[in-house]
Amino acid sequence: MKKISSICCIGAGYVGGPTMSVIAKKCPHIKVTVVDINQKRIDAWNDDNLDNLPIYEPGLKEIVAETRGVNLFFSTKVDESIAEAEMVFISVNTPTKTFGKGKGQAADLKYVELCARNIAKVAKTDKIVVEKSTLPVRTAQAIKNILDNTGNEGVNFEILSNPEFLAEGTAIQDLLHADRVLIGGEESPSGQKAKDLLSEIYQNWLPKDRILQTNVWSSELSKLVANAFLAQRISSINSMSALCEATNANIAEVSRAIGMDSRIGSKFLNASVGFGGSCFQKDILNLVYISKSYGLQEVSDYWEQVIIMNDYQKRRFADNIISTLYNTVSGKKIVLYGWAFKKDTNDTRESAAIYIADALLNEQAEVVVYDPKVPEEKIYADLDALNTRSEEENRKNLTVVKNPLEASKNAHAVAILTEWDEFKTYDWKEIYQQMIKPAFIFDGRRILDKQELQGIGFKMYSIGEMD
Ligand code: UDX
Ligand code: ADP
Repeated sequence: MKKISSICCIGAGYVGGPTMSVIAKKCPHIKVTVVDINQKRIDAWNDDNLDNLPIYEPGLKEIVAETRGVNLFFSTKVDESIAEAEMVFISVNTPTKTFGKGKGQAADLKYVELCARNIAKVAKTDKIVVEKSTLPVRTAQAIKNILDNTGNEGVNFEILSNPEFLAEGTAIQDLLHADRVLIGGEESPSGQKAKDLLSEIYQNWLPKDRILQTNVWSSELSKLVANAFLAQRISSINSMSALCEATNANIAEVSRAIGMDSRIGSKFLNASVGFGGSCFQKDILNLVYISKSYGLQEVSDYWEQVIIMNDYQKRRFADNIISTLYNTVSGKKIVLYGWAFKKDTNDTRESAAIYIADALLNEQAEVVVYDPKVPEEKIYADLDALNTRSEEENRKNLTVVKNPLEASKNAHAVAILTEWDEFKTYDWKEIYQQMIKPAFIFDGRRILDKQELQGIGFKMYSIGEMD
């Protein structure tokens, strides 16, 4: 294999879709096929109307418009596409196990294993298999065992770990201007060759010195560690937000002051209602599980605390709404602005909003949700998945609206749960007029101007600041 000319990516999700779109754009000489077993998802990727793509990411539809049908293809023909490709990316979901050993902590590798078995079954020529999904350390070894023991004789497989560091909402920019690309592989001559072939792909748009080659396990572990460190910063600042609320300090001032220390840095220090997303919690739980399984209880406990703090922050926010509204929200209309786990994405996995809505529904509040990108079915599906109450009850007590201003009519409180920019542009005077007085705002993202809103008449709680 001199150069890669054909790539197959298994999994057309939040990672596979944007990553392959960018590879296709930057490597016009490579045919990139993204396959998925989910026909509906593939149909959406192939939809003529680019507003119907299954994933919303700024800049994505423009790239898809440019490359789709040229050198980027979306298909359900998994086997054919694997057989044809020289390099196969595994980009399927790896949820936390909900049963058996490691329940609630370990990653469920069912989908990854199925992919490996599928590759072994259909491969007739040598393949470089790249793990892109976030996986626990030593998964590459498991993939290799499956491929080497079930694959066709004479077919050689090289396994690489190439973890994804893109953040949703900025995926395209993160891919185009990656801080670094990590490629882990074996140190044998064929392993080195495989690493170099993948490096060459990225070198079509990134400087060589940003591409780091390591051994497989360092690469796998680095992904978990990067996410754990980022999440730890948020939990650290969130823990301080509670202290700020109890004293007269202001979390924004504290963040700014410590962030100016170049050793600390200013990013990921925004106090919030709690972090969400498909990675942080899952990766930390993975780290906790791995550490424990190697007998490193202290290491495991240390990282578990990041999750405990995040759960506390979500609970604290919901409790604060309830206690501020005179300890009863029963029958009170509470509007949630934002359901996505962060702005500029339609992804809701582990979003704090799900927890807040659930806590308010438990108190028999009448909850109204508005999110500019998340569809109604998704919001109900998230709630139903908690199994707290029946589907009928969820639909009876929580309404999803398309008009954010109308939502506030006769509401007792508004809670900001996602930092969508449009919330800052609302006519808050008009919203105030429509609400029951005293009208409350609970800003879980600190995006609104507290003084201005208090000037209108709102009673306002901004996370990490005394009233
Ligand atoms: C994260 C990592 O950033 C990315 O490198 C990795 O590949 C996947 O996981 P993502 O989960 O998409 O990306 O989004 P991120 O921007 O990291 O935000 C995660 C959560 O933390 C969001 O809920 C966000 O609102 C929250 N957050 C982030 C804060 O509460 N405060 C901050 O200062 C930053
Ligand atoms: P991520 O955020 O990691 O990209 P997603 O859940 O958005 O996760 O996407 C993963 C995709 O992988 C889903 O669309 C799912 O249908 C697909 N998938 C899972 N297992 C397989 C498989 N064995 N073959 C093909 N596609 C798969």
